[in-house]
Amino acid sequence: MANRLLLLLSLFSAVAAAGGDDVGIPVGDGDYCDSWRLGVEAHNVRGWTTVPRKCDNYVENYMRGHHYRRDSAVAADEAISFAQTLQLAADANATWVFDVDDTALSHVKFYKKHGFGYHRTDEPLFLEWLVAGKASALPNTLRLYKKLLLLGIKIVFLSDRPDTPELRNATATNLIKEGFDCWDELILRSENSTTTGSVVEYKSGERSKLEEEKGMVIVGNIGDQWSDLLGSPEGQRTFKLPNPAYYIDNYMHAGVRSVATTAATATSSSYSS
Ligand SMILES: *[C@@H]1O[C@H](CO)[C@@H](O)[C@H](O)[C@H]1NC(C)=O
Ligand SMILES: *[C@@H]1O[C@H](CO)[C@@H](O)[C@H](O)[C@H]1NC(C)=O
Ligand SMILES: *[C@@H]1O[C@H](CO)[C@@H](O)[C@H](O)[C@H]1NC(C)=O
Repeated sequence: MANRLLLLLSLFSAVAAAGGDDVGIPVGDGDYCDSWRLGVEAHNVRGWTTVPRKCDNYVENYMRGHHYRRDSAVAADEAISFAQTLQLAADANATWVFDVDDTALSHVKFYKKHGFGYHRTDEPLFLEWLVAGKASALPNTLRLYKKLLLLGIKIVFLSDRPDTPELRNATATNLIKEGFDCWDELILRSENSTTTGSVVEYKSGERSKLEEEKGMVIVGNIGDQWSDLLGSPEGQRTFKLPNPAYYIDNYMHAGVRSVATTAATATSSSYSS
């Protein structure tokens, strides 16, 4: 009986998939995974290290299908509406802060090869992929970015990527190639700030410097992680893009960083939990 119900359910999801809202991978306990994803986006579910096993396919289906793009479009539309209400004097130094990974540039191409969050990311492979500079623009973020430029708002990219010459070049090249072709600052995480401090401390510290040292006024701040958005000064308004594939507070890029800076031949075993 239970088996038959499961079969019916998976048939149902296959039929729903044919309706075009996803890529047709049977998502198993989709109801549970929907609720889990909401918990993640609302920051009720925190500090998780991998997508729950039973939601692996669900996350893949979500991110490869229309749902992810539609959720991103809602965030971009709201951000654009907000930006249009700002009264911007020419010398206002109004600035918008963008995160890079899975905000401007998508990791979906990487996930397609290496899984959508159930297995922890293999650091050396991931770094290699970043250095190759082949990430695609997230179309809704690009739309917001272009609108902000037209409104005369300054652009800052603030990333937790390690600031090595190679990765700085790859990041800049990748952004330009994908249409994010001008900015006031591209801030990557210098070696000095890597040993101490959470991502929230690092990013809010950099935002604080932008305001206090550069006279910028952060009107908007957009990222796919809560650690992009929390910590004073947050910016006048923050916008959370969806990302149910990973959660960053301290650890994730710390691994990538040590690979980048020491060129160690770490294996993914140090990374799995
Ligand atoms: C804008 O930035 C310039 C240069 O950093 C600074 O001199 C000026 O005071 C800033 N304007 C505002 C309104 O903060
Ligand atoms: C990246 O490095 C290459 C080779 O040194 C250089 O020609 C190019 O201008 C650099 N690109 C950026 C965006 O810095
Ligand atoms: C890093 O820290 C060292 C020692 O405190 C300092 O001399 C150096 O200027 C710092 N580098 C950067 C890029 O802040």
